[in-house]
Amino acid sequence: MANNNYTGASFPLTRMRRNRLKDWSRRLIKEHTLTVNDLIWPIFVTANKKTEISSMPGIYRIPLKEISNYVKKAQNIGIPAIALFPETDPNLKDDIGSEALNNNNLICEATRLIKNNCKSIGIITDVALDPYTNHGHDGIIEKDEILNDETLEILGQQALNQASAGADIIAPSDMMDGRVQHIRKLLDKNNFKNVQIMSYAAKYASNFYGPFRNAIGSDKNLSKKSKKSYQMDYSNSDEAIREVQLDINEGADLIMIKPGMPYLDIIYKIKSELKMPTYAYQVSGEYSMIKNAINSNYLSKNTIIEALTCFKRAGADGILTYFALEAAMMLKDEKY
Ligand code: PBG
Repeated sequence: MANNNYTGASFPLTRMRRNRLKDWSRRLIKEHTLTVNDLIWPIFVTANKKTEISSMPGIYRIPLKEISNYVKKAQNIGIPAIALFPETDPNLKDDIGSEALNNNNLICEATRLIKNNCKSIGIITDVALDPYTNHGHDGIIEKDEILNDETLEILGQQALNQASAGADIIAPSDMMDGRVQHIRKLLDKNNFKNVQIMSYAAKYASNFYGPFRNAIGSDKNLSKKSKKSYQMDYSNSDEAIREVQLDINEGADLIMIKPGMPYLDIIYKIKSELKMPTYAYQVSGEYSMIKNAINSNYLSKNTIIEALTCFKRAGADGILTYFALEAAMMLKDEKY
């Protein structure tokens, strides 16, 4: 700590513990606070019956007929937005993800139902082909290559399809180059100029997505194939700045970093340098680790609030988390 004497005189004049002694004083010196307004709740939708996701204890695939009541819980407690993901029937999957363009697909149906029944919550829909392709990749493929520009065409139509159903925020999660610009232009041309774009701007090829792929049923199709030719290498951080800057230039309103907890340095760096509304995704693998440890009594439930507050400290304006409802209830009851 060279030249850094702003804390004043040292011990015994300075006692850092003095400020920490009383609860009211600890509250007074608190620098970052998690509130319900920071939470976005990802929800899995299914055409089948309600099933628990085995790799994510406590998280269920929600049938369409229950979706509005489910989302109402989030709306009532004050969660600002939800993010929808579909478990697509394997028979509807093909090599180009055509089901993504069906205006009666699970996501569109769910969006319309929620819009009609929960008027004050924001709906985020994911743009990527992986829930709809029989190979589990986010784009269309030729031999072993994930095609970029050809994929953009379909992603653009997918975004329009979701916006037509009533999505408030389009969230491209595919990591194709140029997709934010392509989608922004199409939305504007089709009278959706107020639909926001939350770009998965710095998204890493991560092992922490495992349980999610199980949840949407893309894991078996993907098997040992990797997404390293489009998602980022977890060894890199300067590259994340370039990725996010490009998405800002292309018209992103909100940017996301993913995964979350092992990537707090990236969140910090991006928020400090680019000053955008910045979101972190505490992904399925992070949820599973914490939840399983809580269920086994290895960790206290308070770990949930700690982990989420740390995202705020790193600079995130909000967090996509499967704990959103649980965390909102803990915050409301001040039980942590
Ligand atoms: C789809 C997508 C993924 C996640 C969100 N959107 C998986 C992936 O890229 O393979 C991961 C979410 C999570 O793990 O919680 N493109």
